[in-house]
Amino acid sequence: MLNIGVLISGKGSNLQAIIDASEQGEIPAKVVLVISNKADAYGLERAKKHNIPTAVLKDESEMLKALKAAEVGLVCLAGYMKIVGKTLLDEYEGKMINIHPSLLPKFPGLHAQRQALAAGAKESGATVHFVDAGCDTGPIIIQSVVPVFESDTEETLSARILEQEHKIYPQAIKLFSMGKLKIEGSRVKKI
Ligand code: GRF
Repeated sequence: MLNIGVLISGKGSNLQAIIDASEQGEIPAKVVLVISNKADAYGLERAKKHNIPTAVLKDESEMLKALKAAEVGLVCLAGYMKIVGKTLLDEYEGKMINIHPSLLPKFPGLHAQRQALAAGAKESGATVHFVDAGCDTGPIIIQSVVPVFESDTEETLSARILEQEHKIYPQAIKLFSMGKLKIEGSRVKKI
């Protein structure tokens, strides 16, 4: 069974989707630790409700120590609003994934849904990708496309994308935990 550590900064709905998929036996993996860099992140409450250990940490060396102590084999960033630095990447590159609310490489960084609306995109979506040193630039694992309607606001588009995020994040974790993902340069092959 793969041990997952989830890094959050906020509401944690993707964390919840991962916990639910694990508890329902949909993924051969278990969330063993949730770390937030914000003390008031609602995701911490979600973890506690499922008896998952939590920590509020800002320093990457401390995060690394906690992840290693929990024998974490996959780190999932789920609404973690900081760029990951060298300390964590040195240990977990290739074993760290992120979810982003756009079809990368379009609209990386903050406010991806606002960027899609401002660009007049007719489609957007969600991406799960391996984390590298850049901002939302790592090898792409899964994407899901949603339409953008003329009537959309940032809220309505975000909600449509979030629904897809909750589906593809557990799917990507399942592929990883079954050893089916191989990184070749900037691409991910499903083996
Ligand atoms: C999601 O849209 C995720 O893609 C982005 O931040 C949001 C986090 O939502 N990186 P939640 O905390 O998982 O509810």
